[in-house]
Amino acid sequence: MDDLGDHDIVVLCVLKGGYQFCADLVERIKALSRNSNHTIPMRVHFIRLRSYLNDQSTEDLHILGAEDLSFLAGKNVLIVEGIVGTGKTMETLLKHVEAFRPKMIKVAGLLVKRVQHSLACVPDYVGFEIPNRFVVGYALDYNEYFRDLNHICVISESGKKKYKV
Ligand code: IMP
Ligand code: MG
Repeated sequence: MDDLGDHDIVVLCVLKGGYQFCADLVERIKALSRNSNHTIPMRVHFIRLRSYLNDQSTEDLHILGAEDLSFLAGKNVLIVEGIVGTGKTMETLLKHVEAFRPKMIKVAGLLVKRVQHSLACVPDYVGFEIPNRFVVGYALDYNEYFRDLNHICVISESGKKKYKV
C-alpha cells in the first residue's frame, strides 16, 4: 500500500493461475484502504497467458486479452501472478506492459520457485518461496486440472502420468 501510494492503481491479474490469489489480494487491499483515511481508486484488469504443456515451460508464450493496454499509461500497475517458475513468463509480460508507459510497475507473486540458475524476473512481493517442484491447486493447474483444489500441493508422478497430454 505504501509503495503504490494513493494514485490510481490498476491490478493486472494474470489468468488463469493468478485468479484465486488476485481475488484474495484485492479483498485485502480493499480492507486496508477501508481502514485508512483515503480510498485508493482501483481497477482490476485481466490478462491471459499460456506457456506450459504438462510440467514443462514452452518457449512460445501466448498473451490473450492484451490487445489494448493503453489505459495503463501513467498508472501504477500491480501485476498479480500465482507462481513464478523460470521467470521467463513474467519477463515477457513485463516487456509487453512497459511498452504502454505505466508510471510504475510492481509484481506480486504468491509463489516463487527456488531454481538453480537465477530467475529471469523476481517479483517485488513474494508470498512464499518453494522447492522447484510442480505444484497444483488454488487456481494453479496441471493441463487445466486441479485448479479447484483449496490447498496447494506437489503433483505426484502418477498424477502427472494420468493427466498428461
Ligand atoms: P515461468 O515462465 O517458468 O516463470 O512460468 C510461469 C507460468 O507457468 C505461471 O504463469 C504458471 O501458470 C506456470 N507454472 C510454473 N510453474 C508451475 C507449477 O508448479 N504449477 C502450475 N503452474 C506453473
Ligand atoms: Mg498453467
